[in-house]
Amino acid sequence: MKKILFATSEAHPLIKTGGLADVAGSLPKALAELGHDIRLILPNYQALTLEDKPRYICTVRVDNREVNILETQLPDSNVLVWLVDYRPFFDHPGNPYVDEHGIPWPNIAERFALFCRIITEVAMNRAYLDWQPDIVHCNDWQTGLAPAFLSLESQPPASVFTIHNLAYQGLFPASSFSQLNLPGQLWHPEALEYHGMLSFIKGGLAFADILTTVSPTYAQEIQTPEFGYGLEGLLSHRHDVLHGILNGIDMDDWNPETDPLIPGHYSAHRLKDKVINKIQLQQQMQLPEDESVPIFGMVCRLVEQKGIDLMLKNLTELVQLPLQFVLLGSGDKSVEYNLQEFSRLYPEKIAVTIGYNEALSHLIEAGSDIFLMPSRFEPCGLNQMYSQRYGTIPIVRKTGGLADTIEDALPESLKNETATGIAFNHPESDALLEAIKRSLVLFDNKPLWRKIQRSAMKKDFSWTNSARQYQALYDTV
Ligand code: ADP
Ligand code: GLC
Repeated sequence: MKKILFATSEAHPLIKTGGLADVAGSLPKALAELGHDIRLILPNYQALTLEDKPRYICTVRVDNREVNILETQLPDSNVLVWLVDYRPFFDHPGNPYVDEHGIPWPNIAERFALFCRIITEVAMNRAYLDWQPDIVHCNDWQTGLAPAFLSLESQPPASVFTIHNLAYQGLFPASSFSQLNLPGQLWHPEALEYHGMLSFIKGGLAFADILTTVSPTYAQEIQTPEFGYGLEGLLSHRHDVLHGILNGIDMDDWNPETDPLIPGHYSAHRLKDKVINKIQLQQQMQLPEDESVPIFGMVCRLVEQKGIDLMLKNLTELVQLPLQFVLLGSGDKSVEYNLQEFSRLYPEKIAVTIGYNEALSHLIEAGSDIFLMPSRFEPCGLNQMYSQRYGTIPIVRKTGGLADTIEDALPESLKNETATGIAFNHPESDALLEAIKRSLVLFDNKPLWRKIQRSAMKKDFSWTNSARQYQALYDTV
Protein backbone atom coordinates (compact mmCIF):
# COMPACT_ATOMS: atom_id res chain seq x y z
CA MET A 1 0.00 0.00 0.00
CA LYS A 2 1.35 3.40 -0.98
CA LYS A 3 0.42 6.88 0.16
CA ILE A 4 -0.03 8.94 -2.98
CA LEU A 5 -0.57 12.67 -3.38
CA PHE A 6 -2.17 13.19 -6.81
CA ALA A 7 -1.77 16.79 -7.99
CA THR A 8 -3.87 18.15 -10.83
CA SER A 9 -5.35 21.41 -12.09
CA GLU A 10 -8.72 19.78 -12.85
CA ALA A 11 -10.72 16.68 -11.86
CA HIS A 12 -14.14 15.54 -12.99
CA PRO A 13 -16.81 16.06 -11.66
CA LEU A 14 -15.42 18.98 -9.65
CA ILE A 15 -14.07 20.95 -12.59
CA LYS A 16 -13.32 19.99 -16.17
CA THR A 17 -12.04 21.55 -19.37
CA GLY A 18 -10.72 18.39 -21.04
CA GLY A 19 -9.45 14.85 -20.70
CA LEU A 20 -7.06 15.59 -17.82
CA ALA A 21 -10.13 16.04 -15.62
CA ASP A 22 -11.54 12.69 -16.69
CA VAL A 23 -8.27 10.98 -15.83
CA ALA A 24 -7.80 12.80 -12.51
CA GLY A 25 -11.39 11.94 -11.57
CA SER A 26 -11.10 8.25 -12.32
CA LEU A 27 -7.50 6.98 -12.02
CA PRO A 28 -7.33 7.86 -8.28
CA LYS A 29 -10.51 5.87 -7.70
CA ALA A 30 -8.99 2.86 -9.45
CA LEU A 31 -5.79 3.22 -7.36
CA ALA A 32 -7.87 3.48 -4.17
CA GLU A 33 -9.63 0.27 -5.18
CA LEU A 34 -6.23 -1.41 -5.42
CA GLY A 35 -5.77 -0.52 -1.75
CA HIS A 36 -3.68 2.67 -1.95
CA ASP A 37 -4.20 5.71 0.24
CA ILE A 38 -4.53 8.38 -2.43
CA ARG A 39 -5.42 12.04 -1.97
CA LEU A 40 -6.08 14.61 -4.63
CA ILE A 41 -4.87 18.17 -4.43
CA LEU A 42 -6.17 20.98 -6.62
CA PRO A 43 -6.91 24.70 -6.38
CA ASN A 44 -10.17 25.81 -4.80
CA TYR A 45 -11.60 27.51 -7.90
CA GLN A 46 -14.84 29.44 -7.62
CA ALA A 47 -16.26 27.26 -10.42
CA LEU A 48 -15.88 23.96 -8.55
CA THR A 49 -19.06 21.87 -8.38
CA LEU A 50 -19.17 20.59 -4.81
CA GLU A 51 -21.90 18.53 -3.20
CA ASP A 52 -21.18 19.86 0.28
CA LYS A 53 -19.30 22.78 1.73
CA PRO A 54 -15.66 21.70 2.12
CA ARG A 55 -14.19 21.46 5.62
CA TYR A 56 -11.41 23.85 6.69
CA ILE A 57 -8.35 21.93 7.86
CA CYS A 58 -5.35 24.20 8.15
CA THR A 59 -3.51 27.30 7.03
CA VAL A 60 -0.06 27.17 5.44
CA ARG A 61 2.19 30.18 5.00
CA VAL A 62 4.27 30.36 1.81
CA ASP A 63 5.80 33.36 0.05
CA ASN A 64 4.24 35.65 2.65
CA ARG A 65 0.81 34.39 1.74
CA GLU A 66 -1.65 32.61 3.98
CA VAL A 67 -3.20 29.72 2.15
CA ASN A 68 -5.99 27.57 3.55
CA ILE A 69 -6.41 23.90 2.84
CA LEU A 70 -9.97 22.65 2.72
CA GLU A 71 -11.09 19.05 2.54
CA THR A 72 -13.83 17.38 0.54
CA GLN A 73 -14.36 14.04 -1.15
CA LEU A 74 -14.36 12.92 -4.76
CA PRO A 75 -18.04 12.05 -5.37
CA ASP A 76 -18.90 8.33 -5.45
CA SER A 77 -15.64 7.37 -3.80
CA ASN A 78 -13.78 7.66 -0.54
CA VAL A 79 -10.90 9.55 -2.16
CA LEU A 80 -10.12 12.68 -0.15
CA VAL A 81 -9.59 15.94 -1.99
CA TRP A 82 -7.53 18.81 -0.62
CA LEU A 83 -8.43 22.19 -2.01
CA VAL A 84 -5.80 24.92 -2.06
CA ASP A 85 -7.78 27.95 -1.04
CA TYR A 86 -6.25 31.32 -1.83
CA ARG A 87 -9.03 33.71 -2.69
CA PRO A 88 -7.05 36.46 -4.46
CA PHE A 89 -6.01 33.87 -7.06
CA PHE A 90 -8.77 31.33 -7.31
CA ASP A 91 -12.02 32.91 -6.18
CA HIS A 92 -13.00 34.35 -9.58
CA PRO A 93 -15.49 33.24 -12.23
CA GLY A 94 -13.90 31.35 -15.12
CA ASN A 95 -12.06 28.09 -15.57
CA PRO A 96 -8.60 27.07 -14.34
CA TYR A 97 -6.88 28.75 -17.30
CA VAL A 98 -9.10 31.55 -18.60
CA ASP A 99 -11.55 34.06 -17.18
CA GLU A 100 -15.27 34.06 -17.89
CA HIS A 101 -14.63 35.86 -21.21
CA GLY A 102 -12.08 33.30 -22.35
CA ILE A 103 -9.07 35.55 -21.65
CA PRO A 104 -6.08 33.69 -20.14
CA TRP A 105 -5.48 34.67 -16.51
CA PRO A 106 -2.70 37.28 -16.58
CA ASN A 107 -1.27 35.91 -13.33
CA ILE A 108 -1.49 32.24 -14.34
CA ALA A 109 2.22 31.67 -13.58
CA GLU A 110 1.79 33.03 -10.05
CA ARG A 111 -1.32 30.95 -9.50
CA PHE A 112 0.25 27.64 -10.40
CA ALA A 113 3.60 28.49 -8.80
CA LEU A 114 1.71 28.98 -5.53
CA PHE A 115 -0.14 25.71 -6.13
CA CYS A 116 3.22 23.92 -6.58
CA ARG A 117 4.60 25.44 -3.39
CA ILE A 118 1.62 24.08 -1.48
CA ILE A 119 1.97 20.66 -3.14
CA THR A 120 5.57 20.70 -1.88
CA GLU A 121 4.57 21.71 1.66
CA VAL A 122 1.99 18.93 1.79
CA ALA A 123 4.45 16.44 0.28
CA MET A 124 7.03 17.30 2.95
CA ASN A 125 4.40 16.99 5.70
CA ARG A 126 4.80 20.63 6.68
CA ALA A 127 1.13 21.49 6.22
CA TYR A 128 -0.17 20.23 9.57
CA LEU A 129 -2.02 17.37 7.87
CA ASP A 130 -0.09 14.66 9.67
CA TRP A 131 0.26 12.68 6.48
CA GLN A 132 3.27 12.24 4.25
CA PRO A 133 2.98 10.64 0.83
CA ASP A 134 5.40 8.04 -0.52
CA ILE A 135 4.67 9.26 -4.03
CA VAL A 136 3.78 12.69 -5.40
CA HIS A 137 2.08 12.15 -8.74
CA CYS A 138 2.01 15.39 -10.75
CA ASN A 139 0.15 16.04 -13.99
CA ASP A 140 0.96 18.52 -16.77
CA TRP A 141 2.75 21.88 -16.57
CA GLN A 142 0.54 23.38 -13.89
CA THR A 143 2.17 21.01 -11.38
CA GLY A 144 5.62 20.96 -13.03
CA LEU A 145 7.42 23.12 -10.48
CA ALA A 146 6.60 20.68 -7.67
CA PRO A 147 9.16 17.97 -8.67
CA ALA A 148 11.74 20.76 -9.08
CA PHE A 149 11.02 22.14 -5.59
CA LEU A 150 11.08 18.64 -4.14
CA SER A 151 14.51 18.01 -5.66
CA LEU A 152 15.86 20.74 -3.36
CA GLU A 153 14.51 19.09 -0.19
CA SER A 154 16.31 16.50 1.84
CA GLN A 155 14.65 13.07 1.69
CA PRO A 156 11.66 14.05 -0.43
CA PRO A 157 9.01 11.53 -1.45
CA ALA A 158 9.41 10.04 -4.92
CA SER A 159 7.84 12.00 -7.75
CA VAL A 160 6.01 10.88 -10.87
CA PHE A 161 5.18 13.33 -13.64
CA THR A 162 2.56 12.48 -16.26
CA ILE A 163 2.55 14.31 -19.58
CA HIS A 164 -1.02 14.60 -20.82
CA ASN A 165 -0.11 17.07 -23.52
CA LEU A 166 3.38 18.30 -24.37
CA ALA A 167 1.96 21.14 -26.46
CA TYR A 168 1.13 23.02 -23.26
CA GLN A 169 4.36 23.79 -21.44
CA GLY A 170 3.75 26.75 -19.15
CA LEU A 171 6.32 29.02 -20.83
CA PHE A 172 6.85 32.48 -19.36
CA PRO A 173 9.39 35.30 -19.87
CA ALA A 174 12.65 35.02 -17.95
CA SER A 175 11.54 37.92 -15.73
CA SER A 176 8.86 35.66 -14.24
CA PHE A 177 11.60 33.58 -12.69
CA SER A 178 12.59 36.29 -10.24
CA GLN A 179 9.05 37.63 -9.89
CA LEU A 180 8.02 34.19 -8.68
CA ASN A 181 10.95 34.18 -6.32
CA LEU A 182 12.12 30.79 -7.59
CA PRO A 183 15.34 29.29 -6.18
CA GLY A 184 18.33 30.56 -8.22
CA GLN A 185 19.85 27.13 -8.77
CA LEU A 186 16.81 26.18 -10.86
CA TRP A 187 17.67 28.78 -13.52
CA HIS A 188 19.71 26.49 -15.69
CA PRO A 189 19.24 24.85 -19.13
CA GLU A 190 19.14 21.51 -17.38
CA ALA A 191 16.48 22.78 -15.01
CA LEU A 192 13.67 25.29 -15.63
CA GLU A 193 15.32 27.41 -18.32
CA TYR A 194 14.16 26.79 -21.87
CA HIS A 195 15.82 28.98 -24.51
CA GLY A 196 15.88 31.95 -22.17
CA MET A 197 12.36 31.39 -20.92
CA LEU A 198 10.91 29.88 -17.78
CA SER A 199 9.34 26.48 -18.48
CA PHE A 200 7.08 24.96 -15.84
CA ILE A 201 6.85 21.61 -17.61
CA LYS A 202 10.64 21.20 -17.51
CA GLY A 203 10.41 21.04 -13.73
CA GLY A 204 8.52 17.79 -14.16
CA LEU A 205 10.50 16.48 -17.12
CA ALA A 206 13.92 17.15 -15.63
CA PHE A 207 13.32 16.37 -11.94
CA ALA A 208 10.60 13.74 -11.54
CA ASP A 209 11.89 10.27 -10.71
CA ILE A 210 9.49 8.70 -13.19
CA LEU A 211 7.93 10.18 -16.30
CA THR A 212 4.82 8.79 -17.88
CA THR A 213 2.61 9.76 -20.73
CA VAL A 214 -0.83 8.59 -21.67
CA SER A 215 -0.17 6.12 -24.50
CA PRO A 216 2.74 3.98 -25.68
CA THR A 217 2.73 5.57 -29.15
CA TYR A 218 2.83 9.14 -27.76
CA ALA A 219 5.73 8.08 -25.49
CA GLN A 220 7.67 7.33 -28.69
CA GLU A 221 6.39 10.33 -30.64
CA ILE A 222 7.50 12.91 -28.06
CA GLN A 223 11.07 11.74 -28.44
CA THR A 224 11.02 13.02 -32.04
CA PRO A 225 11.27 16.64 -33.29
CA GLU A 226 7.81 16.47 -34.87
CA PHE A 227 6.03 16.01 -31.54
CA GLY A 228 8.70 17.03 -29.03
CA TYR A 229 8.55 20.87 -29.34
CA GLY A 230 12.27 21.07 -28.65
CA LEU A 231 11.98 18.85 -25.57
CA GLU A 232 12.67 15.65 -27.52
CA GLY A 233 16.35 15.72 -26.50
CA LEU A 234 15.53 15.84 -22.80
CA LEU A 235 12.86 13.17 -23.21
CA SER A 236 15.16 10.85 -25.17
CA HIS A 237 17.81 11.41 -22.52
CA ARG A 238 15.30 10.24 -19.90
CA HIS A 239 13.78 7.45 -21.96
CA ASP A 240 14.78 4.85 -19.34
CA VAL A 241 12.25 6.33 -16.92
CA LEU A 242 9.65 7.36 -19.51
CA HIS A 243 6.65 5.03 -19.81
CA GLY A 244 3.51 5.12 -21.94
CA ILE A 245 0.44 3.95 -20.03
CA LEU A 246 -2.91 4.14 -21.76
CA ASN A 247 -5.69 6.01 -20.04
CA GLY A 248 -8.73 4.07 -19.00
CA ILE A 249 -12.27 5.43 -18.85
CA ASP A 250 -14.80 5.70 -16.07
CA MET A 251 -16.96 2.70 -16.90
CA ASP A 252 -19.81 3.96 -14.70
CA ASP A 253 -19.99 7.50 -16.10
CA TRP A 254 -19.79 6.18 -19.65
CA ASN A 255 -22.12 3.22 -19.73
CA PRO A 256 -24.83 3.11 -22.42
CA GLU A 257 -26.86 0.70 -20.28
CA THR A 258 -27.26 3.14 -17.40
CA ASP A 259 -26.15 6.62 -18.55
CA PRO A 260 -28.63 9.06 -16.93
CA LEU A 261 -27.81 11.70 -19.57
CA ILE A 262 -29.29 9.73 -22.50
CA PRO A 263 -32.93 8.74 -23.13
CA GLY A 264 -32.38 5.29 -24.70
CA HIS A 265 -30.39 2.67 -22.84
CA TYR A 266 -28.82 -0.13 -24.85
CA SER A 267 -26.04 -2.72 -24.91
CA ALA A 268 -24.10 -4.83 -27.42
CA HIS A 269 -26.92 -7.36 -27.25
CA ARG A 270 -29.72 -4.80 -27.46
CA LEU A 271 -28.38 -2.37 -30.02
CA LYS A 272 -31.72 -1.47 -31.55
CA ASP A 273 -32.53 1.04 -28.77
CA LYS A 274 -29.52 3.15 -29.72
CA VAL A 275 -31.79 4.79 -32.29
CA ILE A 276 -33.86 6.42 -29.52
CA ASN A 277 -30.82 8.58 -28.85
CA LYS A 278 -30.37 9.31 -32.53
CA ILE A 279 -33.91 10.64 -32.84
CA GLN A 280 -33.52 12.69 -29.66
CA LEU A 281 -30.26 14.12 -31.00
CA GLN A 282 -31.86 15.04 -34.33
CA GLN A 283 -34.77 16.70 -32.55
CA GLN A 284 -32.56 18.59 -30.16
CA MET A 285 -30.23 19.76 -32.93
CA GLN A 286 -33.15 20.58 -35.25
CA LEU A 287 -31.97 18.22 -37.94
CA PRO A 288 -34.45 16.27 -40.07
CA GLU A 289 -35.56 13.15 -38.23
CA ASP A 290 -34.28 10.14 -40.14
CA GLU A 291 -33.25 6.83 -38.63
CA SER A 292 -31.39 5.70 -41.71
CA VAL A 293 -29.07 8.65 -42.38
CA PRO A 294 -25.66 8.23 -40.70
CA ILE A 295 -24.86 10.90 -38.12
CA PHE A 296 -21.22 11.91 -37.74
CA GLY A 297 -20.52 13.35 -34.28
CA MET A 298 -17.64 15.42 -32.96
CA VAL A 299 -17.03 16.78 -29.44
CA CYS A 300 -13.78 18.60 -28.79
CA ARG A 301 -11.87 21.68 -27.93
CA LEU A 302 -11.71 23.66 -31.19
CA VAL A 303 -7.94 23.90 -31.43
CA GLU A 304 -5.38 22.97 -34.06
CA GLN A 305 -4.53 19.71 -32.27
CA LYS A 306 -7.96 18.26 -33.03
CA GLY A 307 -7.65 18.56 -36.83
CA ILE A 308 -10.82 20.61 -37.07
CA ASP A 309 -9.32 22.43 -40.08
CA LEU A 310 -9.31 19.13 -41.99
CA MET A 311 -13.00 18.84 -41.28
CA LEU A 312 -13.70 22.44 -42.32
CA LYS A 313 -11.94 21.89 -45.64
CA ASN A 314 -14.22 18.93 -46.33
CA LEU A 315 -17.57 20.38 -45.32
CA THR A 316 -18.59 21.69 -48.76
CA GLU A 317 -18.08 18.24 -50.20
CA LEU A 318 -19.59 16.43 -47.23
CA VAL A 319 -22.93 18.19 -47.53
CA GLN A 320 -23.32 16.49 -50.93
CA LEU A 321 -23.19 13.09 -49.24
CA PRO A 322 -26.05 11.31 -47.45
CA LEU A 323 -25.09 12.20 -43.88
CA GLN A 324 -25.64 14.58 -41.00
CA PHE A 325 -22.87 16.23 -38.98
CA VAL A 326 -23.24 17.27 -35.34
CA LEU A 327 -20.52 19.17 -33.53
CA LEU A 328 -20.15 20.38 -29.94
CA GLY A 329 -17.10 22.38 -28.98
CA SER A 330 -15.52 25.70 -28.19
CA GLY A 331 -12.15 27.31 -28.64
CA ASP A 332 -10.66 29.19 -31.58
CA LYS A 333 -13.08 32.03 -32.38
CA SER A 334 -12.55 31.93 -36.15
CA VAL A 335 -13.18 28.18 -36.21
CA GLU A 336 -16.34 28.69 -34.13
CA TYR A 337 -17.47 31.35 -36.61
CA ASN A 338 -16.76 29.22 -39.71
CA LEU A 339 -18.58 26.23 -38.27
CA GLN A 340 -21.59 28.33 -37.39
CA GLU A 341 -21.63 29.77 -40.90
CA PHE A 342 -21.74 26.26 -42.35
CA SER A 343 -24.60 25.27 -40.08
CA ARG A 344 -26.52 28.38 -41.17
CA LEU A 345 -25.94 27.52 -44.84
CA TYR A 346 -26.84 23.83 -44.48
CA PRO A 347 -29.28 23.54 -41.56
CA GLU A 348 -30.53 20.19 -42.87
CA LYS A 349 -27.08 18.68 -42.72
CA ILE A 350 -24.92 20.41 -40.15
CA ALA A 351 -25.72 21.28 -36.53
CA VAL A 352 -23.16 23.13 -34.45
CA THR A 353 -23.33 23.93 -30.73
CA ILE A 354 -20.64 26.22 -29.43
CA GLY A 355 -19.98 25.83 -25.72
CA TYR A 356 -19.30 23.23 -23.09
CA ASN A 357 -22.17 20.85 -22.39
CA GLU A 358 -21.73 17.59 -20.51
CA ALA A 359 -25.22 16.24 -21.21
CA LEU A 360 -25.04 16.97 -24.93
CA SER A 361 -21.62 15.32 -25.14
CA HIS A 362 -23.18 12.08 -23.85
CA LEU A 363 -26.12 12.37 -26.24
CA ILE A 364 -23.75 12.88 -29.20
CA GLU A 365 -21.77 9.80 -28.18
CA ALA A 366 -24.95 7.74 -27.93
CA GLY A 367 -26.95 9.22 -30.81
CA SER A 368 -24.27 9.38 -33.52
CA ASP A 369 -23.32 6.46 -35.73
CA ILE A 370 -19.75 7.57 -36.37
CA PHE A 371 -17.45 9.74 -34.27
CA LEU A 372 -14.74 11.95 -35.79
CA MET A 373 -11.28 12.46 -34.28
CA PRO A 374 -8.99 13.62 -37.10
CA SER A 375 -6.37 14.87 -34.59
CA ARG A 376 -2.98 16.10 -35.78
CA PHE A 377 -1.62 14.65 -32.55
CA GLU A 378 -3.42 13.02 -29.65
CA PRO A 379 -1.56 11.96 -26.50
CA CYS A 380 -4.35 9.53 -25.66
CA GLY A 381 -7.82 10.83 -26.45
CA LEU A 382 -10.86 9.65 -24.53
CA ASN A 383 -13.75 10.16 -26.92
CA GLN A 384 -12.63 7.36 -29.24
CA MET A 385 -12.92 5.03 -26.22
CA TYR A 386 -16.29 6.44 -25.12
CA SER A 387 -17.42 6.06 -28.74
CA GLN A 388 -16.43 2.42 -28.95
CA ARG A 389 -18.24 1.71 -25.70
CA TYR A 390 -21.33 3.39 -27.16
CA GLY A 391 -21.15 1.46 -30.44
CA THR A 392 -20.38 4.70 -32.28
CA ILE A 393 -17.59 3.86 -34.67
CA PRO A 394 -14.65 6.26 -34.44
CA ILE A 395 -12.76 7.62 -37.43
CA VAL A 396 -9.33 8.56 -36.15
CA ARG A 397 -6.01 9.71 -37.43
CA LYS A 398 -3.40 7.10 -36.64
CA THR A 399 -1.44 8.98 -33.99
CA GLY A 400 -0.76 8.71 -30.25
CA GLY A 401 -3.45 7.01 -28.22
CA LEU A 402 -5.81 6.95 -31.19
CA ALA A 403 -3.47 4.50 -32.91
CA ASP A 404 -3.25 2.42 -29.73
CA THR A 405 -6.97 2.08 -28.97
CA ILE A 406 -8.78 1.29 -32.19
CA GLU A 407 -8.51 -1.59 -34.60
CA ASP A 408 -8.75 -0.31 -38.16
CA ALA A 409 -11.46 -1.93 -40.32
CA LEU A 410 -9.27 -3.64 -42.90
CA PRO A 411 -10.03 -6.89 -44.76
CA GLU A 412 -8.17 -8.96 -42.18
CA SER A 413 -9.73 -7.38 -39.06
CA LEU A 414 -13.17 -7.43 -40.67
CA LYS A 415 -12.78 -11.08 -41.42
CA ASN A 416 -11.73 -12.07 -37.92
CA GLU A 417 -14.21 -9.63 -36.34
CA THR A 418 -11.72 -7.49 -34.46
CA ALA A 419 -12.34 -4.22 -36.35
CA THR A 420 -13.59 -1.42 -34.07
CA GLY A 421 -12.91 1.79 -36.01
CA ILE A 422 -11.45 3.46 -39.06
CA ALA A 423 -8.00 5.01 -39.19
CA PHE A 424 -6.18 7.22 -41.69
CA ASN A 425 -2.51 8.12 -41.80
CA HIS A 426 -1.78 11.59 -43.10
CA PRO A 427 -3.20 14.72 -41.50
CA GLU A 428 -4.68 15.83 -44.80
CA SER A 429 -8.27 16.61 -45.70
CA ASP A 430 -8.26 14.12 -48.60
CA ALA A 431 -7.22 11.29 -46.32
CA LEU A 432 -10.00 12.19 -43.89
CA LEU A 433 -12.53 12.38 -46.72
CA GLU A 434 -11.52 8.97 -47.95
CA ALA A 435 -11.94 7.54 -44.43
CA ILE A 436 -15.40 9.11 -44.21
CA LYS A 437 -16.34 7.54 -47.55
CA ARG A 438 -14.98 4.22 -46.32
CA SER A 439 -17.20 4.45 -43.25
CA LEU A 440 -20.26 5.13 -45.42
CA VAL A 441 -19.67 1.94 -47.39
CA LEU A 442 -19.35 -0.08 -44.19
CA PHE A 443 -22.39 1.62 -42.67
CA ASP A 444 -24.51 0.52 -45.63
CA ASN A 445 -23.67 -3.12 -44.96
CA LYS A 446 -25.86 -3.50 -41.87
CA PRO A 447 -24.81 -7.01 -40.72
CA LEU A 448 -21.14 -6.02 -41.02
CA TRP A 449 -21.71 -2.70 -39.27
CA ARG A 450 -23.42 -4.46 -36.35
CA LYS A 451 -20.40 -6.73 -36.00
CA ILE A 452 -18.03 -3.75 -35.86
CA GLN A 453 -20.28 -2.11 -33.28
CA ARG A 454 -20.35 -5.23 -31.12
CA SER A 455 -16.56 -5.70 -31.27
CA ALA A 456 -16.13 -2.05 -30.28
CA MET A 457 -18.59 -2.28 -27.39
CA LYS A 458 -16.95 -5.38 -25.99
CA LYS A 459 -13.49 -3.83 -25.66
CA ASP A 460 -12.26 -3.38 -22.11
CA PHE A 461 -11.27 0.23 -21.52
CA SER A 462 -11.57 0.05 -17.72
CA TRP A 463 -8.80 1.48 -15.54
CA THR A 464 -7.93 -1.83 -13.90
CA ASN A 465 -5.07 -2.75 -16.19
CA SER A 466 -3.56 0.75 -16.39
CA ALA A 467 -3.89 1.38 -12.65
CA ARG A 468 -1.85 -1.79 -12.12
CA GLN A 469 0.83 -0.44 -14.44
CA TYR A 470 1.04 2.78 -12.39
CA GLN A 471 1.19 0.66 -9.25
CA ALA A 472 4.08 -1.34 -10.68
CA LEU A 473 5.95 1.91 -11.41
CA TYR A 474 5.30 3.28 -7.91
CA ASP A 475 6.89 0.09 -6.62
CA THR A 476 10.14 0.84 -8.46
CA VAL A 477 10.91 4.07 -6.56
P1 ADP B 1 -8.43 16.78 -24.60
O1 ADP B 1 -8.09 16.49 -23.19
O2 ADP B 1 -7.25 17.02 -25.47
O3 ADP B 1 -9.42 17.87 -24.74
P2 ADP B 1 -9.67 14.12 -24.59
O4 ADP B 1 -10.27 13.32 -25.70
O5 ADP B 1 -8.69 13.44 -23.75
O6 ADP B 1 -9.10 15.45 -25.23
O7 ADP B 1 -10.80 14.57 -23.59
C1 ADP B 1 -11.75 15.54 -23.84
C2 ADP B 1 -12.85 15.41 -22.82
O8 ADP B 1 -13.56 16.65 -22.74
C3 ADP B 1 -13.87 14.36 -23.18
O9 ADP B 1 -14.45 13.86 -22.00
C4 ADP B 1 -14.90 15.18 -23.97
O10 ADP B 1 -16.15 14.58 -24.00
C5 ADP B 1 -14.89 16.47 -23.19
N1 ADP B 1 -15.27 17.65 -23.97
C6 ADP B 1 -14.51 18.34 -24.85
N2 ADP B 1 -15.19 19.40 -25.34
C7 ADP B 1 -16.40 19.38 -24.74
C8 ADP B 1 -17.57 20.21 -24.81
N3 ADP B 1 -17.60 21.28 -25.61
N4 ADP B 1 -18.63 19.90 -24.04
C9 ADP B 1 -18.60 18.81 -23.24
N5 ADP B 1 -17.53 17.99 -23.12
C10 ADP B 1 -16.45 18.27 -23.86
C1 GLC C 1 -4.71 15.73 -22.90
C2 GLC C 1 -4.63 15.13 -24.29
C3 GLC C 1 -5.57 13.98 -24.52
C4 GLC C 1 -5.59 13.05 -23.32
C5 GLC C 1 -5.90 13.83 -22.06
C6 GLC C 1 -5.94 12.96 -20.82
O1 GLC C 1 -5.55 16.78 -22.78
O2 GLC C 1 -4.82 16.13 -25.29
O3 GLC C 1 -5.16 13.27 -25.67
O4 GLC C 1 -6.55 12.05 -23.51
O5 GLC C 1 -4.93 14.80 -21.86
O6 GLC C 1 -4.75 12.27 -20.61
